[in-house]
Amino acid sequence: MKINIAIDGFSSCGKSTLAKLLAKKLEYNYIDTGAMYRSVTVYLVNQGLIKDGKVNKQDIINALDEIHITFKFNKSKNQSDTFLNGVNIENEIRSPKISSLVSGISKFKEVRQKLITLQQKLGEDKGIVMDGRDIGTFVLPKAEVKFFVTADLEIRTQRRYDELIANGYSESFEKVKENLLERDYNDTSRDENPLTQAEDAILLDNTNLTIEELVDMATKIVENTLQK
Ligand code: DC
Repeated sequence: MKINIAIDGFSSCGKSTLAKLLAKKLEYNYIDTGAMYRSVTVYLVNQGLIKDGKVNKQDIINALDEIHITFKFNKSKNQSDTFLNGVNIENEIRSPKISSLVSGISKFKEVRQKLITLQQKLGEDKGIVMDGRDIGTFVLPKAEVKFFVTADLEIRTQRRYDELIANGYSESFEKVKENLLERDYNDTSRDENPLTQAEDAILLDNTNLTIEELVDMATKIVENTLQK
């Protein structure tokens, strides 16, 4: 039997690392919904539709039909790359610029409707681990296992900072922290599907855990569910 696993949490809390490793262990597909919101943001930036961080709602609605997001497994990296209209944008979507704009785009109902439809379709066949902000609450409310991942802000900032530096971006620690706080605020206070812990989600605080310990903990919970 295959199940669906929903993983939600704040930015850079370790949820995507957990989701990827869990998917690998279970031989499930990993779906990164943040990459989808980032892809829409890249499209709008490339079309010159975001000016001084602001965007016209009608421009977004008009653009949505032109946006086609796909994922392709990259053997050398052992993970999926994100493609926007056939172009690999995996590196671009992780840039500080896109990180600073994405929560201003993901708050639009029309954007969410388009991406949630796509996400729910991907969840139909089961056997997926999907991470985001509203997976357990709105996208896959019937997911058999739901996790809500947290970690202290300092730890999250350090992880995001290290990741940016490793990918060739230069950004100060304070700026990275500022962006995380801003996104936390935007993601939890928006009208459409704000980030909250689903009532039946299991809280995993990994402030003092190694990634191996976190994955082990999550795997045991999944195995328990599979045995029921
Ligand atoms: O997981 P991430 O940091 O790559 O996500 C980028 C942004 O996309 C995040 O700030 C909020 C938004 N997002 C969302 O609104 N809903 C999701 N399911 C996933 C991401």
